[in-house]
Amino acid sequence: MHEYYEQRAEEYDDWYNRVGRYNDPRTNAAWHAQVAELGREAARFGGMLNRYAGMRALDLCCGTGKWTPFFARSLTGSGRVVAYDYSPSMLGQTRLRLEEEDPALLEKTLFARGDAYYLPFASQTFDLVFFGFWLSHVPHERVAAFFEEIKRVLKPGGNILIFDSAYRPGIPHEEISRRPLNNGTIHDVLKINYTPAELEKLLKQTFSESQARQTFDFFLIGQASR
Ligand SMILES: C[S@@+](CC[C@H](N)C(=O)[O-])C[C@H]1O[C@@H](n2cnc3c(N)ncnc32)[C@H](O)[C@@H]1O
Repeated sequence: MHEYYEQRAEEYDDWYNRVGRYNDPRTNAAWHAQVAELGREAARFGGMLNRYAGMRALDLCCGTGKWTPFFARSLTGSGRVVAYDYSPSMLGQTRLRLEEEDPALLEKTLFARGDAYYLPFASQTFDLVFFGFWLSHVPHERVAAFFEEIKRVLKPGGNILIFDSAYRPGIPHEEISRRPLNNGTIHDVLKINYTPAELEKLLKQTFSESQARQTFDFFLIGQASR
């Protein structure tokens, strides 16, 4: 998994942009509309980060930082978003994105490399923890401990926001997917596609007030609070 994403960093956004092997003219329009819907949800949560100066957000497994600007934008005063990932190349892509989009966002962003299962942050640090397209890679036997770790670093009343691929007819519920990269390598990657009901049930085991829904078909949006 680590090697796969480290090697995929420069081509990762081809997936969002439906370039190359991800291009599918039958569904590109629906895909882009649903990515835009995720953007509106990220903006809604990001918008809550200006309630008071100094709020903190964690973009866990931030990848290329597709969603980081949505959280950085609203922060005021000493407020910061931590872009956190295991892959140095992914963190580099996030930095590039912020530089290109608005260098002022860089000042609101801290970068940290580390493991999602063991977070190097004090308890009750964050007002918001976001993870996009990461939960589907967490094996069933690690989910409970992973959520406990998220809960630990969340402030009381803090929120979590989750984006991921949704289960839909025609794709497996769970698989080890064989994924090629442009450099010719192939990687086996665990992918669990939850339904909204399954995600909500999972979140309820650790968090209060959880909700989950699906965009028209591709994506899952989950939220919960501590
Ligand atoms: C599917 S990408 C998601 C990127 C981004 N969150 C998004 O929504 O586009 C998964 C990310 O998880 C990172 N990752 C994989 N295993 C990790 C781990 N154990 N700890 C921290 N990051 C990890 C990868 O480097 C990759 O950037």
